[in-house]
Amino acid sequence: MKGVVFTEFLEMIESRFSADMVDDIIDDAKLPSGGVYTAVGTYPHEEIVALVVALSQRSGTAVRDLLLAFGEHLFGRFVVGYPTFFGSTSDAFTFLAGIEDIIHREVHKLYPDAELPRFDVEQHDDRQLTLLYDSRRHFEDLAEGLMRGCIAYFGGGIAIARSVVGDGESRKERFVLTRT
Ligand code: HEM
Repeated sequence: MKGVVFTEFLEMIESRFSADMVDDIIDDAKLPSGGVYTAVGTYPHEEIVALVVALSQRSGTAVRDLLLAFGEHLFGRFVVGYPTFFGSTSDAFTFLAGIEDIIHREVHKLYPDAELPRFDVEQHDDRQLTLLYDSRRHFEDLAEGLMRGCIAYFGGGIAIARSVVGDGESRKERFVLTRT
């Protein structure tokens, strides 16, 4: 997982909780990296899971809710950090339908070692967009949070429904987005 995800996460915790909370969860999570991240570095994705679990235990907030909130926050940070990705798009469906072939393709050029998920567009029309998320890291809740952030950025009015496809480690997640 790229360091930018870790630095954004820890900055969010510092602003929403406190600097002490950041220190505490880094201690709790017993991280191989020691919790020292640079934006361009690469670290085991298990470390962000350990940090989120530690925060969940200390704050009493469910892991799922923390990942949703982080995804929403992270999308806002991407808007600031990668303005060129937002140039001509004015619609959430168009943006989200292009994650695989446009957005993450560009991310991969910037960070060749990024471990990106797969997002297949199963169906796309004016009313509905269906995406199939596939990642062995299983950040489905983070994906939903990023989608929520994206929908809010483009003005809202889209509902998200999720279902699991398959089972075990190779399971995927289907996201059906419908205009309300
Ligand atoms: C400007 C927009 C975006 C940028 C710059 C961006 C960039 C990135 C970066 C740098 C990573 C980390 C890769 C790594 O850790 O090695 C990542 C991961 C991820 N991105 Fe994006 N992303 C964007 C939009 C989105 C959106 C809208 C979604 C949701 C539909 C999404 C879903 C994910 C997920 C779920 C991961 C975690 C890795 C995984 O699931 O395997 N991204 N993205």
